[in-house]
Amino acid sequence: MEKLAVLALLFAGRFAVAADSLPPLVALTASPAEGKRIFAEREAGHCVLCHRVAGLDAPFQGNLGPALTGIGSRLTPAQIRLRIADASRLNPDTIMPPYYRREGLEQVAKPYRDATVLGAEQIEHLVAWLASLEQADGE
Ligand code: HEC
Repeated sequence: MEKLAVLALLFAGRFAVAADSLPPLVALTASPAEGKRIFAEREAGHCVLCHRVAGLDAPFQGNLGPALTGIGSRLTPAQIRLRIADASRLNPDTIMPPYYRREGLEQVAKPYRDATVLGAEQIEHLVAWLASLEQADGE
């Protein structure tokens, strides 16, 4: 019963989600180095606000979210992508912002209504970097 509700939720969105993963949003040769930059920079993803990655050279790394050290050993690229695009699809109560969700933003001023927090290409770069993090890189 709970499983059905989850499926209904997944298919209500604008992008197709299979189980707990999401296929590439755009075709490009993603750059792990660019993903690392987006992860750390305040003007970009600023994921370090909540996540720590052992060995990452960033002045501040928060702990509101789980450490992502070795995340590439725990999740597939498609699983990582879904969590960045819209973590609320897996946990409706999550505090992680949805970086690629368009629906449900009626309160937003018109020019921004169709904009997502990050672009599809930025998300692909992030996925490439995170997927490259193996457990042996840190802790
Ligand atoms: C406001 C805090 C916050 C920010 C900012 C944030 N996250 Fe998260 N993130 C979380 C929390 C909390 C979780 C745990 C999932 C949950 O809440 O159900 C999570 C989970 C994840 C996971 C899954 C981890 C696992 O072990 O399953 C990934 C991958 C992730 N975040 C990547 C990112 C990326 C990339 C960014 C930046 C674009 C980002 N997060 C920004 C709070 C945040």
